[in-house]
Amino acid sequence: MAQLWGGRFEDKINEGVWFFNASIGFDLELIYHDIEGSLAHAKMLAKQAIISEQEGEELAKALNGIIDDLMEGALLPDVHIDEDVHGFVERILVERIGETGKKLHTGRSRNDQVALDMRLYVREEADEISSGLYQLLKTLYQLMQAHLETYMPGFTHLQKAQPVTLAHHLGAYFEMFKRDLSRVFDMQNRMNYCPLGSGALAGTTYPLDRAFVARELDFTAPTANSMDSVSDRDYLIEFMSDLSLIMMHLSRFAEEIILWNSDEYRFVTISDGFSTGSSIMPQKKNPDVAELVRGKTGRVYGGLMQLLTVMKSLPLAYNKDMQEDKETVFNAVDTVLDCLVLFRQMLEEMEFHKERMASSAKSGFTNATDLADYLVKKGMAFRDAHEVTGRIVLKCIGKHCAIDDLSLEELRSFNDLFAEDVFDAISLKTCVEARNTYGGPSPEAMKKVLSEYAEYLRLKNYFFFF
Ligand code: ARG
Repeated sequence: MAQLWGGRFEDKINEGVWFFNASIGFDLELIYHDIEGSLAHAKMLAKQAIISEQEGEELAKALNGIIDDLMEGALLPDVHIDEDVHGFVERILVERIGETGKKLHTGRSRNDQVALDMRLYVREEADEISSGLYQLLKTLYQLMQAHLETYMPGFTHLQKAQPVTLAHHLGAYFEMFKRDLSRVFDMQNRMNYCPLGSGALAGTTYPLDRAFVARELDFTAPTANSMDSVSDRDYLIEFMSDLSLIMMHLSRFAEEIILWNSDEYRFVTISDGFSTGSSIMPQKKNPDVAELVRGKTGRVYGGLMQLLTVMKSLPLAYNKDMQEDKETVFNAVDTVLDCLVLFRQMLEEMEFHKERMASSAKSGFTNATDLADYLVKKGMAFRDAHEVTGRIVLKCIGKHCAIDDLSLEELRSFNDLFAEDVFDAISLKTCVEARNTYGGPSPEAMKKVLSEYAEYLRLKNYFFFF
């Protein structure tokens, strides 16, 4: 139990308290970021002549040596000695270079150090999340291109409403994930300020060059208030909220796929590789991936509530409560990354049953609005057309048939405005093609939007890979 704060204490820490207090069990996740921050800090200390050039070089060499050993798996913390990742790195430094190792913490506190580490972590992981979203958007784009004329029912209240296309339905998710991506970017821009140099809470008396450290670590600038810097966890809450929205969108999509994959819908078949079986019922093939994505939404939402609650009413500045920010964020990031990848791969391998979707669109009176519109075009007021169409639907329900299955005579028995052209006017193809306003499902309208998406993906691709 190597205490970084031994001097003032006479007695040893209670063993239970040591483990209750320690964070090494989870903050090891931050070790590369911790060392990255230490390298910048050491370089700045030497530049400002707070330590000598030679000490600066010695520190950098030792820190890089620790990175090498970690990569080889040759260095592990000891839970009985190392309280947290910061103490672990410092202990190894001191073991390896003695007195110089003890100088690294000059003008620094674990409070600004951990604030920095978490920001570096979030900045990097947010890039991973964005790239997961981008890959998913690309897959959706390809599916949309392939299904511009795959007709299916659009639903409200989970009741068939009006015909749309699969491309249009998937396009709704494209919009959601596109917004998610822009939210993650916004969060990254807002949080990209460097807290190092804020000390425990009130800055330091050493002549630190905070702008230099900020530049070294690729931040926009140093943070402007040292008390806020060590106690701000807003960006984590924003990130968790971004992650929650991603999961909310994935869970809606997952739910639809579970429905579509059921025997009642049969719109899609999930591949064997993305399904699981039952230990008792030999016939079963279950959509577990989609169900788990739906289920894991709970833990990400839980994490958001956890952080909001941890931060509620906390007085300035740092409080140990904040140590509780880590596990939940790490867990949420890992969860969302897994979900994004597996969900996308599941989509890529999924079979879409076009015929079945089209026949489902045909059978649920999804063209009833169009029948009413037909009468309006022939001169009837919409309210009356609605009434006439409603009565026709009722008759079809009795006959177990679609509107299109009625003969012209049967239609004319409701109103003599009906003529031979009615069948073309209410065909699935006409119904979809007529919904031609920007943002609508007609292939023509969709092509316009798809060309905008292509440009969007091209620009984002440039952002990700250059
Ligand atoms: N493990 C701590 C955390 O995650 C590091 C900061 C400790 N600071 C302190 N004053 N005890 O928040």
